[in-house]
Amino acid sequence: MSHRPLTLLITAGPTREPMDPVRFLSNYSTGLLGHALVAEARHRGHRVIFVTGPTGLAAPRGVRTIAVETALEMQTALEREFPAADALIMAAAVADFRPVRVASQKIKRSGAAGGLKLWRLDLVENPDLVAGLAARRTRQVIVGLALETSNALRNARTKLKAKSLDAIVLTQMDGHRAPFGRTTVDGAILDRAGKSTAFRRLAKPALARRILDTVERLAKQSHS
Ligand code: CTP
Repeated sequence: MSHRPLTLLITAGPTREPMDPVRFLSNYSTGLLGHALVAEARHRGHRVIFVTGPTGLAAPRGVRTIAVETALEMQTALEREFPAADALIMAAAVADFRPVRVASQKIKRSGAAGGLKLWRLDLVENPDLVAGLAARRTRQVIVGLALETSNALRNARTKLKAKSLDAIVLTQMDGHRAPFGRTTVDGAILDRAGKSTAFRRLAKPALARRILDTVERLAKQSHS
């Protein structure tokens, strides 16, 4: 597809929410889809600003990459970069909760004897990064992802509206396995106009192509 070059802000990977100097809360995101999106965007001649949580993947060549750890750090980076972007693709699996307090020293075991040794960790909800950016967008096309385990289409459509996104990419559990780290995924791309395109066992690079087709189509619409 030929298209004017866009500046794309793409996020990937998990965030890590520390509880002490040696431990954190996170999720199984590997960053594979985000990296596939960056590669495809570069292949199409778009400019990419890549904001990534910790993954085992090497930083993509020739791309401005901002490495972050926590959801709040990702928020700071996105707020700074968003005004220059024509589109945001939010493929990161942002941790929804973070420990209320980060202990300055390693938290020790209780040392108590016998029985069930319960231990509590107080969490606070992280801000919804994509919803916050969508609320203050000017021209940006915003695409989110949704991982659902039940009522998938309905929940994805609700998220699309609640977060004021232009499109949402639903990825579904395959049996009991999350899409994290898998090379192929099942799901659908839904847009604001009500259009929905399902996919099955789609390889992540092919899914990246479909997502970019959607972004380019929506950017063209918002531009014309
Ligand atoms: N997202 C975000 N900030 C958060 C949580 C999620 O920007 N604190 C973004 C994700 O990057 C994704 C979209 O919102 O693009 C949907 O993420 P998902 O985890 O499916 O939705 P949640 O809002 O976290 O809803 P829930 O966990 O209740 O299903």
